[in-house]
Amino acid sequence: MEKKLAGQIAIITGASSGIGAGVAKSLSISGATVVINHPVEATKAAAEMVLAEIKNTGGEGITYQCDVSKEDEVMKMFADVITQFGTVDILINNAGLQRDSPFTEMTLEQWDLVISVNLTGQFLCAREAIKEFLRRGIVPEKSKAAGKIICMSSVHEVIPWSGHANYAASKGGIMLLMKSIAQEFAPKKIRVNSICPGAIQTPINKAAWGTPEALQSLLTLIPYQRIGQPEDIGKAAVWLASDDSDYITGTSIFIDGGMTLYPGFSTNG
Ligand code: BGC
Repeated sequence: MEKKLAGQIAIITGASSGIGAGVAKSLSISGATVVINHPVEATKAAAEMVLAEIKNTGGEGITYQCDVSKEDEVMKMFADVITQFGTVDILINNAGLQRDSPFTEMTLEQWDLVISVNLTGQFLCAREAIKEFLRRGIVPEKSKAAGKIICMSSVHEVIPWSGHANYAASKGGIMLLMKSIAQEFAPKKIRVNSICPGAIQTPINKAAWGTPEALQSLLTLIPYQRIGQPEDIGKAAVWLASDDSDYITGTSIFIDGGMTLYPGFSTNG
């Protein structure tokens, strides 16, 4: 297999499980050295398992604990990675969580946690990554771009989601954060794009696929009639991080089996 990301250093936030773990594996198979970020001590073992799998398939990387919502921790993570590996070429801004609640019962704590991890975390990591991309500039042997950022958004950057106002607000925010920095740094040859997953089979949405009834109900929202897998996202992330997508910046790519096609209208309206 062609190693399209050979020699490149990728930080993947929230990579101890779910989509982040899948993306870390896909990037590694394509030759990137991966930094498997995880938020707290309790997620270290899971991150180490992802790393072990990667090493078993001949890949390289480290795990790194850092809460992406904390400015000092993010700055230290980038400084440490740059000290150890020389630079950072790819940021996968993936860390995210849900704290669902009917709107009138949503606490400020639930609101703040989701916004600070999902949105502020992406701001803090993108800022440090871009500083490094600007410092280093283009290294032609590695990539035509000076750096690539992929923001993990969601179909809920456009689909409103009752009972999940904090989460949908964070994803809507990511859309214009991504586009604004893509616009600002395109002249510096830094590419910034989003991936918008639909329902991907991971721990975050287990309630939606954990029983046959739940899965059946979920499939009414997915015209393509299957739940997504982390590899579906991983393959697109490799492409978006590689020079195959060199002319693409400021775009949201929906990977959702048609969830954003208003499936309710196939039999109504
Ligand atoms: C959410 C999942 C949900 C999916 C589709 C994702 O962004 O994290 O919980 O299943 O969107 O609604």
